[in-house]
Amino acid sequence: MVSEFTGPPSVLPPAVDYSPFATTYQDRADYVPSVVDALLRVAEVRRGDAVCDIGAGSGHLTEPLLQRGFHVDAVEPTPAMRELGERRTHGYPHVRWYEGRGEASGRASEAYALVTFGSSFNLTERPLALAETARILRDGGYFACLWNHRVLDDPLQARIEELIHDRIPVYSYGVRRADQTDVIVRSGLFETPVVVSGTQVFRLPSQAWCDAWASHSTVGQQSGNGFTGLVDEIRELVRAEAGDFIDVPYTTKAWVARLSRGDKDAPR
Ligand SMILES: C[S@@+](CC[C@H](N)C(=O)[O-])C[C@H]1O[C@@H](n2cnc3c(N)ncnc32)[C@H](O)[C@@H]1O
Repeated sequence: MVSEFTGPPSVLPPAVDYSPFATTYQDRADYVPSVVDALLRVAEVRRGDAVCDIGAGSGHLTEPLLQRGFHVDAVEPTPAMRELGERRTHGYPHVRWYEGRGEASGRASEAYALVTFGSSFNLTERPLALAETARILRDGGYFACLWNHRVLDDPLQARIEELIHDRIPVYSYGVRRADQTDVIVRSGLFETPVVVSGTQVFRLPSQAWCDAWASHSTVGQQSGNGFTGLVDEIRELVRAEAGDFIDVPYTTKAWVARLSRGDKDAPR
């Protein structure tokens, strides 16, 4: 298949600045561990392999990768997020942090067995990020992107969802809840992705879970000045409905795609 990608633009728009969401981001739920394991099985990687985690942020995916024995280069454009990630993964011997982004990682060509985007692929110009991923992957390497989704038919989550839609009538989850298959296949650089997903209920401290709403950039960007008020309303609802701990079901969904054979000859 011939790539549609004709080359990187000389000037990229700035990466989405995550500074306003940084302080509470670390309170967010982990990815479902069995989905992380399944993703790694599909990607045919083994302990000691080199992984590049892009948009690594506060290290929510970087750390599980390190715990499973991978050597991780973490790439993150927002300094405040990078600082949190560096702090979280301090003490692991096989992690290095870099400034960079999905479309221009700054990493060496053909260096990685796997390139991951934990809740960050939606923030990139996706065709450019896929081309950059193909550049830094070794032959036969894999791309993976994944997100955590609250299960919206849980009764309390349904009420929170109602509140969000009431306060932001045109609210949309955009790319972060969309099927990524088409953009991956259309790049011409990867085989059809395998989709893995799994759901787990996380018991979390209610206050920290409410605090973490302040790190929800998709809601934050669409609610503008009303964001703090909306987070306060969510806090009130949780206070009325849950105790000190809240049980929140999350589905982690991942797309895992192998670099196409012969892609190195495709136009870049
Ligand atoms: C929702 S956070 C995810 C952090 C972490 N990977 C995780 O799994 O929780 C998204 C991160 O992507 C970063 N980001 C923004 N624009 C980006 C881009 N163009 N390429 C890569 N990362 C980007 C943000 O700074 C932020 O740290």
